[in-house]
Amino acid sequence: MIATNAPPYKLPTDFLWGFATASFQIEGATDADGRGKSIWDDFSKITGKTLDGRDGDVATDSYHRWQEDLDLLVQYGVKSYRFSISWSRIIPSGGREDPVNEAGIEFYSDFIDGLLARGITPFVTLYHWDLPQALHDRYLGWLNKGEIVLDFVRYAKVCFERFGDRVKHWLTMNEPWCISILGYGRGVFAPGRSSDRLRSPEGNSSTEPWIAGHSVILSHAYAVKLYREEFKAKQGGEIGITLNGDWAMPYDDSIQNIEAAQHALDVAIGWFADPIYLGQYPAYMKQMLGDRLPDFTPEELAVVKEAGGEDEFQGHVEYTFTRPDGTQLGTQAHCAWLQDYAPGFRDLLNYLYKRYRKPIYVTENGFAVKDEDKKTVEEALQDDDRVQYYRGVTSSLLAAVKEDGVDVRGYFGWSLLDNFEWADGYVTRFGVTYVDYETQKRYPKDSGKFLSQWFKEHVDNDKPSSIPATIVKVISAAGNSVETKVVHSANVNVPKDAAPKKKGGKGKKAPFARFTAYISAFLGL
Ligand code: BGC
Repeated sequence: MIATNAPPYKLPTDFLWGFATASFQIEGATDADGRGKSIWDDFSKITGKTLDGRDGDVATDSYHRWQEDLDLLVQYGVKSYRFSISWSRIIPSGGREDPVNEAGIEFYSDFIDGLLARGITPFVTLYHWDLPQALHDRYLGWLNKGEIVLDFVRYAKVCFERFGDRVKHWLTMNEPWCISILGYGRGVFAPGRSSDRLRSPEGNSSTEPWIAGHSVILSHAYAVKLYREEFKAKQGGEIGITLNGDWAMPYDDSIQNIEAAQHALDVAIGWFADPIYLGQYPAYMKQMLGDRLPDFTPEELAVVKEAGGEDEFQGHVEYTFTRPDGTQLGTQAHCAWLQDYAPGFRDLLNYLYKRYRKPIYVTENGFAVKDEDKKTVEEALQDDDRVQYYRGVTSSLLAAVKEDGVDVRGYFGWSLLDNFEWADGYVTRFGVTYVDYETQKRYPKDSGKFLSQWFKEHVDNDKPSSIPATIVKVISAAGNSVETKVVHSANVNVPKDAAPKKKGGKGKKAPFARFTAYISAFLGL
C-alpha cells in the first residue's frame, strides 16, 4: 500500500471523485456503427501532425472494451467517471437537419447504464474537440457562429433528451482556450488552421481564434439556456463548462510583473469565465484585442510589450518554470508545458473561488512521467513522479477546502488510461493505468492505487456536505499546477506544442500553472 500522508480531516460524503477521458482519445472504432468522421480523424493521419505519426483509429479501443474499462473503475473504487460523447456518433453529419444515429445513442446509453449499475455517477462532456468533419466542410465549424450555435444546441438537445434521465452532470465544452488557440491560432490541433503557411494553407491566427472562442461561448450559453428552460426542472441536473488555465505568479514584486501575471490569467481563464460569470470579456482582453487593438496607443503597446512576451495567445506574458535563482519549480513532465508544483493548485483554486464565487469541480488533473513510453511495463507501473504529483495536489485540494474554505465538490484525475494524447500521439502517457498498445491490456500504475487509497481515506463515509444541491455550479478542474514567472520581455512558453524557452535577459520570467477549470453557471443571454 502506498502511504498517503495527508492531514486528518475529510471531504464530505457527496464529494465526487474519479478519472476523466475523452471520446476521441480512447474510443477508436472510428468507422463503427454509422459514426461520422470528426475533424481529428483525417487530421491525425496527415504526416507531421502527431509526434509518432499515429492516429486515433484504434486508440485504447474503448468502444469495444468499455466493459473492461468499467471493471477498472470499480477496481479503483471511483464514485464518478468523466467521459465525453462523440458528436459524430450521435449525429454523423453533425447538423440540425441531419439524422440521429440510433446505434450511437445505444452505445452511450448502455455505457451510462453500465456506470449506474456499478454505482458510478456519469459526468458527461458534450464536446471534447471532436467536431463532426461535415460541419467543418460545410461552413468551417466554429468560425461560423450563425450555424454552429444552432447545430451544437440541437446536438445538446438530443443528448439531454436521450440521456438526461440518467445523467445529472453535464459539461458543454472542454477547454475553449485549446479549441480556439490550438485549433485556429497555432494550428497544432485539428482543424489545424494558422497564419503560418508552412503549417497550414488556410487560416488567420490574428482573428480566427477569437471568433472561434466567441462561437464556443455562445454555443455553451444557448445549450445551458435550453437545459435550464426545458430539462432542468424535470431532470434535476446541472450544467457547466470546463476551462483550462495556467496559474501565474509574478516573477518578482514589480508592478509590470504583477500585472503580467493577471494578464496571463485573463487570457487563459477570464476570456471565457468573465463573460460567463461576470458578464463581460476581461478589460485586458478588450484592451489587447479590441477591434484588433484599436484602443492601444503606441505608448500602451510599448507597455504591454515590456510587461510580457510577444505572444497574444498568452496575453503578452512570458512563461517560465525557472526561478530567479535558476532552480526549477518542480519535476519536469514528459511534455514541455508541465511541471509539478502543488502550491499552484491551491492558489488557483483560491483565485477562481474568490473571483467567480462558484462551486468548483476539478474536471482534470494529471501528470505525464518523463520518458514513460521508453520504460518496460514493470518500470512504468512504478510511476513515482506521478504519485508525487498526486500526493501534492490532493493535499493542496484538502487544504483549499478545509483551510481556505474553497467550495470544491469533485476531482477527476487525467486520465483513467494512457491514451491518444492529441498532437503527441501515444508517446506522452497521462494514464493512471498503463496501456500496452500491442495487446490493449491495461495495468494499474502506482498512481492509480495511490488515488484510490487517498480518496478512500479522505472522503467521509457518512457526512454529506451541507451545501444545498440546487446551487448553480462552477466546476473547475485543476490542471497541473505549475508556476513560472512573468517577465518583461522574452520568450513564451507555448502549452502543448513547445518548451518554455530559456532566455537569459534580465532573468525575469513569468509564473505559470496549468489549470483546467470547469464552470457551470451561465449568466445572461
Ligand atoms: C485535455 C486532454 C489532454 C490533457 C493532457 C487536457 O487539457 O482536456 O484532452 O489529454 O489535457 O494534455
